[in-house]
Amino acid sequence: YTGRYDGSNIAWTGRGTTANLEEIVIGRCNDYIGLKNPAAGKKNCTLLWQTLKSVFASKDPCKITQDDYKPFLTMAEHDIPSGKSIFWSQTGELTRQYADIVKNVMPLESTLTGYMMNGLNWCGQRSSSELNYEVCPAWNECEENAAKSFWRSASVVYAKKASGEVKVVLNGSSQTRAFRTESIFGSIELGNLDTNRISSIQLWIMDNLSGSDKESCGVGSIAQLEIALKHKGFKFSCIDNYRPVQLIQCIWMPEHKSCNICP
Ligand code: APR
Repeated sequence: YTGRYDGSNIAWTGRGTTANLEEIVIGRCNDYIGLKNPAAGKKNCTLLWQTLKSVFASKDPCKITQDDYKPFLTMAEHDIPSGKSIFWSQTGELTRQYADIVKNVMPLESTLTGYMMNGLNWCGQRSSSELNYEVCPAWNECEENAAKSFWRSASVVYAKKASGEVKVVLNGSSQTRAFRTESIFGSIELGNLDTNRISSIQLWIMDNLSGSDKESCGVGSIAQLEIALKHKGFKFSCIDNYRPVQLIQCIWMPEHKSCNICP
């Protein structure tokens, strides 16, 4: 180990900063604005990186707040077309695959901020301007950790922008509950949805093909979510195992009975 410990971070068990973080982040930014979504408009990717790095470099990685990311998030902001917002919980991989295929939805990971940081790890250290490539706090090792505060803060911005018909993809085979009030969707995004901008909300409850059907529309935690949406004044509908998404699950299990087109 070549970096320097703060003394307190020895116990952390999270993965350290992703190697070549700067090159990856600046590269993804240029890829995004140049090729993936030119509608995002002109952005200075080097300045975006510098603004982002200044949030966590030389700082205790457990003392980074959601507010600290605001200047970066404001600089990276761009429009999300009406009807393209899609939220998820415990269905991240599937939702990203669906988005990459159909291209008519734009999850957080298909916006500039999400695209730049998806799948990466990052944190600094108080005693050095070097990022910590060895260890970072894991998701639950401290509340205000560099990555957790980023995703929470980015989720606020993303949720506030949602308009038109919004989708929510939940996991009907969850070991816990499909809708968890403590998740980012339940604790952050839901409360930031704007009744005046959103015309309706579609819930898609996806069971794992080989998993159990624990929860469905109108059942368990989904029923709780439906009540909450009603109270907030949203129009909503709910679909169990929305077929276009299920067909993506079928790619890995084409022989499964749910994948059979002519049963
Ligand atoms: N340990 C490690 N990582 C975690 C943990 C944890 N205990 N909890 C959440 N995460 C990280 C993981 O990277 C995971 O893929 O957050 C991601 C989302 O967690 P989920 O529980 O699947 O969903 P949720 O908390 O609702 O967040 C997803 O927030 O990011 C936004 O727009 C996005 O709607 C989406 C929602």
